[in-house]
Amino acid sequence: AGMFTYDPGFTSTASCRSSITYIDGEAGILLYRGYPIEQLAMQCSFLEVCYLLLRGELPNFDQLKEFERNITMHTMVHDQLTNFFKGFRRDAHPMAIMVGVVGALSAFYHDALDIRSKCDREMSAIRLLAKVPTIVAMCHKYSAGSPFMYPQNKLSYVENFMRMMLATPCEEYEPNPVLVRALDRILILHADHEQNASTSTVRLAGSSGANPFACITAGIACLWGAAHGGANEAVLHMLEEIGDTSRIGIYINKAKDKDDPFRLMGFGHRVYKNHDPRAKLMRETCYEVLGELGLQDDPLFKLALELERIALEDEYFIEKKLYPNVDFYSGIVLHALGIPSKMFTAIFAMGRTVGWISHWDEMIADPEQKIGRPRQLYTGATRRDVPARHGR
Ligand code: CMC
Repeated sequence: AGMFTYDPGFTSTASCRSSITYIDGEAGILLYRGYPIEQLAMQCSFLEVCYLLLRGELPNFDQLKEFERNITMHTMVHDQLTNFFKGFRRDAHPMAIMVGVVGALSAFYHDALDIRSKCDREMSAIRLLAKVPTIVAMCHKYSAGSPFMYPQNKLSYVENFMRMMLATPCEEYEPNPVLVRALDRILILHADHEQNASTSTVRLAGSSGANPFACITAGIACLWGAAHGGANEAVLHMLEEIGDTSRIGIYINKAKDKDDPFRLMGFGHRVYKNHDPRAKLMRETCYEVLGELGLQDDPLFKLALELERIALEDEYFIEKKLYPNVDFYSGIVLHALGIPSKMFTAIFAMGRTVGWISHWDEMIADPEQKIGRPRQLYTGATRRDVPARHGR
């Protein structure tokens, strides 16, 4: 009895049916609701992509305006929520604060929430999309000891976020369209990626009927790890540690050494084995941003390009099909935008929130939905008796 298929890491188990995102890892194809990521990244705004992921179709002009208005109406957080920040040390990692504060939203929006109601689920989606950027920016301001910035609803979603993050109440904020577009694209490229670890976590948490704000928080916790969303921050730390192109060889050798746990951060992917289509778009954005800011000769960027070149020519990386992933470049772009590296994963969470909530919604609406309850292959002791007088 108890013989189940053993599939550690779920490399060959489909946990659900889904109509949101399609990936062909061999061909390097990524589609949201059928649309290629390249077209969405070039032609749509992040909020259009959010609408698409949540509702299944791209919005027309009026639908988009209505959606944007709806989101801007919910950008503020309850004033009581600011108290949660004060319980954290100023040097706390922003992802730790995110877990605490986004989790706390579940206490604010619990009673009037019927997850069986499509309308209530949409309300949760709107609230999360609207409030997560405010909370991410608050995390940053809190760690810097600066006053929190209120959202400004005449600005676009990304402009508003950049202002809350990077401006101060004493100065006028002038959005730079190239930089705004770059961040918009980062959010689009991170918006969904089918059943990745954090999305699967959100589904599993949600399968018990738990509060959606709590479920999204479970996703944030999972995203934090360096093998997942923590990679963009880890890339920057790695580049800083390497420090100079002359030292790249040492790190390539460390990455190849079986006895050394070091891995090249921002390289490799469970699904993409030829190239990560997001990485190509992110690389282009990287060039645009560095050009706009006159940072083409930035030593960190040069180091990244040289590391990429050497790794792509190395037999180990070729044989194991390890290519730069989206996070290899997103870290460099965010760094150029003036965003500190410890905020990178929180920004990934901001982009992925729409994916998490779309999957949660799809799962709750699925008539075949059951509580997620994996089985196991038991490897422990067989039945035995507690020795007489044990511990007494
Ligand atoms: N550097 C050096 N060796 C690597 C790397 C790397 N970055 N990635 C994989 N390998 C090796 C690994 O040691 C293993 O070798 P062997 O077969 O000899 O044991 C082989 O390649 C296969 O690796 P795996 O860990 O079995 O593959 P996986 O599908 O479980 O892991 C991964 C995928 C993304 C966790 C892994 O490639 C990795 O740790 N990369 C670095 C972290 C990173 O950039 N993560 C971001 C992923 S993209 C954004 C996101 O989805 O969150």
